[in-house]
Amino acid sequence: MDRIYLDHAATTPLLPEVREAMLPWLSDGFGNPSSLHSEGRRARAAVDQSREILSELLGCLFGEIVFTSCGTEAANLGVIGGALSARDQFGGYEVILAAAEHHCVLHTQPFLERLGFKVLIAPVDREAKVDMNWLDDHIRPRTALVSVMHANNELGTLNPIDEIGKMCRREKMFFHIDAVQTFPDTWRVDDFEADLLTISAHKFYGPKGVGLLYARSGVKPTPLIVGGGQEREVRAGTENVAGIVGAGAAAQIVAGWGDWRSQVAECRDAFESELGDEFVASVKHSERLAGHSHVRYPGVDAETALIRLDREGISASSGAACSSGSLEPSHVLAACGYTEEESKEGLRFTFGKTNTVEQAKHAGKIVRETLAEISSRRKVH
Ligand SMILES: Cc1ncc(COP(=O)(O)O)c(C=O)c1O
Repeated sequence: MDRIYLDHAATTPLLPEVREAMLPWLSDGFGNPSSLHSEGRRARAAVDQSREILSELLGCLFGEIVFTSCGTEAANLGVIGGALSARDQFGGYEVILAAAEHHCVLHTQPFLERLGFKVLIAPVDREAKVDMNWLDDHIRPRTALVSVMHANNELGTLNPIDEIGKMCRREKMFFHIDAVQTFPDTWRVDDFEADLLTISAHKFYGPKGVGLLYARSGVKPTPLIVGGGQEREVRAGTENVAGIVGAGAAAQIVAGWGDWRSQVAECRDAFESELGDEFVASVKHSERLAGHSHVRYPGVDAETALIRLDREGISASSGAACSSGSLEPSHVLAACGYTEEESKEGLRFTFGKTNTVEQAKHAGKIVRETLAEISSRRKVH
């Protein structure tokens, strides 16, 4: 059997139609969208068409979109630029980040502190969902900005961001949502009362290197990249025309797939039904994304398992970050209260549009056998 790719939360394959849509903008359509001549105007029209598509799918205005170089940059701009702007407008000086956020949000903490903000980290439960009572107690007039992700990229669990949006409305502050794992879907920015919201094209079958920050009109994050006046004077730099075209094309195609996620969930469930009782499911009580399966096999560390699975033709991941050739325990699982040992065991399998139920069952069987074998060898030694 061919390799089975089960790491769609890390990145998704570029759709052939998206690649086709991008190609002209890497050849004849080379114009700079800020130029006044024909080449420039063509490029501007292409960027604007993509902006139109994405604004419709987000349920926002054309002018509320800021293209960036990736989801990380969009989230940095949303959180740091949003906090600076909130402080200027309302005087708030505290920033609340949830403990299980992606590093592109959490690692703004030292930067914000150097800028004079006080950063509070909101605790999360065993399934990475933010503690709503804690938030209720800590959202107050001195809060500048709150950032909570829609779906957690490791566990796939969802935060009640509509309720958090309402809480944030109690005072003047900005609410930023990292929605990288959930776009495009049927939700619209107003469902959450979002002021700022981040997405990334390579998570929805588009190209890498394109992100987008929705910034509600009237909300103008302080620019972190300065220069020309591109992107509402919020993010300078010549736009990545081909990438932006690809982002719009991908979003439109994926939104047109309708209820594709139920097929993805079917694959995920078929996979899980093949895993034996030795596996511990990390999400037991919450709703989760259709493609996410996060499990542990007690006693087997993720690094060894992933290397073996890769050799068996299965691409999966742990939430852990790789540094100097070895895996650091996942900060998400640590925030959820896992021990260091447990968090080194976390394995994430994320299904996507091209997986089949047959593949998923086959993968489940290989995962079960491979981990059982690693475990039995451990016991003998
Ligand atoms: C939840 C979440 N936020 C942000 C990002 C960062 O996006 P990008 O890879 O485009 O920088 C990712 C990517 O892993 C993610 O999963």
